[in-house]
Amino acid sequence: MDENRMLSRKTVLRAAFAAGVAAPVALVGGPALARTTFAGGQVAEPTPACHDGDDPTPDQTEGPYFKPNSPERTVLVEPGTQGTRLTVTGYVFGLACQPISRALLDFWQADVNGAYDNVGFTFRGHQYTNSLGEFTLSTIVPGLYPGRTRHIHVKVQAPGRPILTTQLYFPNEPRNNTDTIFDPRLLMTVRDAPSGGKEAAFDFVLNVPQSPTSTPPPGGTTWTAGTAYAAGARVTYRGIGYVCLQGHTAQPGWEPPNAPALWQVG
Ligand SMILES: [Fe+2]
Repeated sequence: MDENRMLSRKTVLRAAFAAGVAAPVALVGGPALARTTFAGGQVAEPTPACHDGDDPTPDQTEGPYFKPNSPERTVLVEPGTQGTRLTVTGYVFGLACQPISRALLDFWQADVNGAYDNVGFTFRGHQYTNSLGEFTLSTIVPGLYPGRTRHIHVKVQAPGRPILTTQLYFPNEPRNNTDTIFDPRLLMTVRDAPSGGKEAAFDFVLNVPQSPTSTPPPGGTTWTAGTAYAAGARVTYRGIGYVCLQGHTAQPGWEPPNAPALWQVG
């Protein structure tokens, strides 16, 4: 197995952050998190990497505060909501590291004082990934409550697949060392947002089989898995032209829209 094949989809994405390579606007999606500006030195512990066939995101206890029937929304804050604003963005992937569209994400968390709303639906909401497998959550940094470190609960489900129930964590939290539920594989990358508040990123990897040899999509595609592309090479993918940024051998999961470190619209 050559080195290219050892590179995971997420490694490619992370390399794009570190190198400051501009991702296609359509891929970036959400307005708040500039994935391209994550500097290497500022990235916290890596989130679980997707290695083409293993490492699905680990599950975690649901805890006592889940409520079904949350409203569909991506914004859990209102103008007067107390707390440090937090935007969480990321992708939902399957086992072959290809994004999953229309995946359900149901988030719930404590308020700034560490309390859950068990009567209404404050800080509860569900949403679906877009056609690129992306999600964006606008919320606050949850407060602490006795016995736990800081965390956000989430259920993630690909269409027609089992539900993954898990939790997301914040780096550099003192209680991460003493919380027996805490799992470092579920750490988000978090940084200060330029406009105030925090920006976090996390990519889920669901235990969903995906064909590693997907057929070329229609719409004018010259990009071909298995081809060695040199920097500067030009291809078309679904009718959009791309320029190769660094030499590599193409493989499924590294289609130009999915690999901003390798391909730029142009
Ligand atoms: Fe909790």
